[in-house]
Amino acid sequence: MYTFTDEFISDQRKLEFLKANMMGPNAMRISEEMASYLKIQEGMRVLDLGCGCGLSTLLLVQKYGATVFAADLWISPTENHERFQAIGIENKAIPVSVDATKGLPFANGYFDVLFSVDAYHYFGRTPEMLPSLIPYVKKGGYIAVAIPGWQRALVNGVPEELKPFFSEEDAETFQTLEWWKSLWGTADGVEMVDCREMACCKQAWEEWLASSNPYAVGDMGILEAEQGRYMNLVQLIAKVV
Ligand SMILES: C[S@@+](CC[C@H](N)C(=O)[O-])C[C@H]1O[C@@H](n2cnc3c(N)ncnc32)[C@H](O)[C@@H]1O
Repeated sequence: MYTFTDEFISDQRKLEFLKANMMGPNAMRISEEMASYLKIQEGMRVLDLGCGCGLSTLLLVQKYGATVFAADLWISPTENHERFQAIGIENKAIPVSVDATKGLPFANGYFDVLFSVDAYHYFGRTPEMLPSLIPYVKKGGYIAVAIPGWQRALVNGVPEELKPFFSEEDAETFQTLEWWKSLWGTADGVEMVDCREMACCKQAWEEWLASSNPYAVGDMGILEAEQGRYMNLVQLIAKVV
């Protein structure tokens, strides 16, 4: 299988690009795994919601030939446009500033796929968020989300060994697969087609920790502390019906 992400760690220039633009567990690795569960084709219109610096956008444009609306709150569209120009994807990657909690500036039924990596847990933990996004995706299209979470609910709060890395508030953004499944299970207008723990969890975290991003430096030691017992990556895919 052609692994686009591995190509990005085999050459120093591309690796530097990847390291400079990660904002958490390697978004390109996560995107590649999630996209393998979707039939994304040349010319499809994808909304990359919470795209950050656009690593997922780059994958969707270059590996699949999709046209991607790269929408984010913290990263400005100008910064993303400059990055997209520098890597030659500006004709198929359209940067947009959005706050998903305030509605989106798109027509109903506009997207084939709404794709979101390591972002939905910040804004999507309410019963209202998924129903608010469904209208933007055409019938038969997909809403696909990958987010960090917990393997099991933290019934006694943050475990001692994770306290250097998670405040109680941070820890609340992480939830279990079951928690997300039941939140999405209540929405009308979609049918859950996939709900799983992602295989790339450890690798995506290791690749993030190898970057020099100050937040990654702050996360150093997190994998040793958790020993594969707590953290997870959750993938949710719903079909719009
Ligand atoms: C940890 S970063 C991940 C960025 C990127 N997806 C990645 O994995 O590299 C979380 C992203 O969620 C975005 N985000 C948070 N709240 C948002 C909201 N209300 N609407 C849109 N994006 C949001 C932020 O702008 C940020 O870029």
